[in-house]
Amino acid sequence: MRNTNRDAQDSTPQDLEGQNPINSASGRETLNVPDQDRPKSDITMRSAAASDLLTLGSQTRLIELFPMAAYAVRAPDGVIAWYNSRAAELWGRVPAIDDTDERFCGAYKLYHADGTHMAHCDTPVALALETGASVHEQEVIIEKPDGSRVTVSVHIDPIRDRDGSIVGVVNFFHDIHERKQAERTTSRLAAIVDSSDDAIVSKSLDGIITSWNKSAERLFGYAAEEAIGQHITLIVPPGRQSEEVAILERLRRGERVEHFETVRVRKNGTTLNVSLSISPVRDAAGRVVGASKVARDVTERKRVERAVAEQARLLDLSFDAIFVRDPADRITYWNNGAKQLYGYTSEEALGRVSHELLRTKFPEALDCITGRLNRDRRWTGELIHKRKDGSQLVVASRWALDQRDHGSAYSLLETNSDITQQKESEKALKESELAARLLRLQDEERRRIARELHDGVGQLLAAMSMNVSKVKEETSKLSHDAARCVEENSNMIEQISADIRTMSYLFHPPLLDELGLESALKWYVKGFADRSKIAAKLEVPVDLGRLPKDHEMCLFRLVQECLTNIHRHSESSTALVRLWRTPGEIRMEVSDEGRGIQQEIQSKIASGKSAGVGLRGMRERVKQFDGTLEIHSNGKGASILVTLPLTQEAVPHDQSNAHDAEDQYRSQAM
Ligand SMILES: Nc1ncnc2c1ncn2[C@@H]1O[C@H](COP(=O)(O)OP(=O)(O)OP(=O)(O)O)[C@@H](O)[C@H]1O
Ligand SMILES: [Mg+2]
Repeated sequence: MRNTNRDAQDSTPQDLEGQNPINSASGRETLNVPDQDRPKSDITMRSAAASDLLTLGSQTRLIELFPMAAYAVRAPDGVIAWYNSRAAELWGRVPAIDDTDERFCGAYKLYHADGTHMAHCDTPVALALETGASVHEQEVIIEKPDGSRVTVSVHIDPIRDRDGSIVGVVNFFHDIHERKQAERTTSRLAAIVDSSDDAIVSKSLDGIITSWNKSAERLFGYAAEEAIGQHITLIVPPGRQSEEVAILERLRRGERVEHFETVRVRKNGTTLNVSLSISPVRDAAGRVVGASKVARDVTERKRVERAVAEQARLLDLSFDAIFVRDPADRITYWNNGAKQLYGYTSEEALGRVSHELLRTKFPEALDCITGRLNRDRRWTGELIHKRKDGSQLVVASRWALDQRDHGSAYSLLETNSDITQQKESEKALKESELAARLLRLQDEERRRIARELHDGVGQLLAAMSMNVSKVKEETSKLSHDAARCVEENSNMIEQISADIRTMSYLFHPPLLDELGLESALKWYVKGFADRSKIAAKLEVPVDLGRLPKDHEMCLFRLVQECLTNIHRHSESSTALVRLWRTPGEIRMEVSDEGRGIQQEIQSKIASGKSAGVGLRGMRERVKQFDGTLEIHSNGKGASILVTLPLTQEAVPHDQSNAHDAEDQYRSQAM
């Protein structure tokens, strides 16, 4: 550049002394005013000054003082009269003075502002030379010999002589590349600001709005013209004015405010949730002169957040275990019910594979379940899970697939209700139903055998007995041995008949149906005492009366089992069977004075683990009537106490008598 300057100076030997028409205001004006409009009195002086512009080339120091590039051309052919080094610098070359090959402009190549080529003979200078037209602030693009380009703004005026004839043209021009660049950047930024979805607002340090973008208009409802010049409290709800004071205070200190969530008010008075990011704006000297504020509408996000929180709260209220898993079966949500049921906190459960965490046992192959789930988008079934403490539970499980847009990403909602108790009850119920059926079948079978024995074998024996009687009448005709055999047969038949009858009665005492429990028990207890040599006694109130048939059968069977147990296990020499009524109930106790039932055996009986079926069968029978069975034992004997509720129809007495009956029974028993 220095060289260029020197070259420019060298080729224009000039003198700074003398007149300086450029600095005269009249010189400049004269250039613009057409001849006919000029006041006559000024012409001579001005024209003289103007034509001097062509000779400025001799005043090198003066033209170098110009704050911009300048050159002049001569009429009529447009050869360059002079130029300063700023011009040479922008051209990127040093044209020769008064050279006819260097006409109108010293630039290598020229273009219009729109980028189209501009021939030297079409330059504004050539035009001015020809027509006298001035051109101010026109953009021209200069291409230097090295190919680089620079945009300049030209100010071209014709130079006239005293007669007003155009003697040349002067062109003052300057580089506007940076300004153009800045303009482009500014307009690009403005476009970005305007196209942003966020409201972008700037304000001065005293809170006056200085800019307001399109989104701000959309978000707050005020047009830019309405908002600019107003105080920022325009959009601050009354209760939050102090926020703005605090924000302005922080901005003055040069601090940024980021993602400040608050509420702002629209022109129509409605409020909206916004997230604000506010930055201080500084001037060239670094002083904070205002603030730019970016406001994002988070009303919808807030609403969704609230809805999600509300849903989570509701899900937490559920007693069911509810959790969500991703396609890899990793738990992404775990409600309070799940925590309660399985014992894992959500921190422990989140991210874990649910089947591994809960050690799931599936009712069928997981592939089948997954297949059905993908087809129906839901699956229900029973699963066996393990809690954190290792205990096992059965759950009714409901799976629902949430597959958005049929893509591969989905969530699976699993809802589990604990049905362990229900399952156990069902199992127990099934068992007890089975037991009841068995007992009923057993009773029926016993009744059938009893009848067979009585009606079949019993009748045959009776017939045999009659035949033997006939033979016995004629024993005189028999030998002594034969007569003895007949006698023995007769006795044996009697014995068998008695045994068969006893057996038949034990299977199903006919007395029970005909005369009732009391008679049947009297017969049975007496028979038991005779056979076992145990002093067995029966105590019943005088007015026990009849009970429903099923109750009587149940109590008879209980006495049978209890007395058999006393005979087999107690080593007692006594047994006592007592029956009495209380309001709405019939009670029975069978006690002995033997060694008692050991605690260990009692526990086994209570947990249903006893090998024997006697007491278990008794419990089942009692359960059929919603009754209770208690086992008492203290080492000095055992007693089984049974209580069966009686429905109103089943109570043959006036209940007021029941207490009397019991008292009566007690007095008898003492
Ligand atoms: N009166 C009693 N005195 C002492 N131990 C008894 C008495 N009654 C029952 N037990 C004990 O309770 C156990 C259970 O009795 P349960 O009637 O259920 O079975 P079982 O008599 O052993 O066999 P099953 O009745 O099936 O033939 C008996 O094995 C016995 O040890
Ligand atoms: Mg038994």
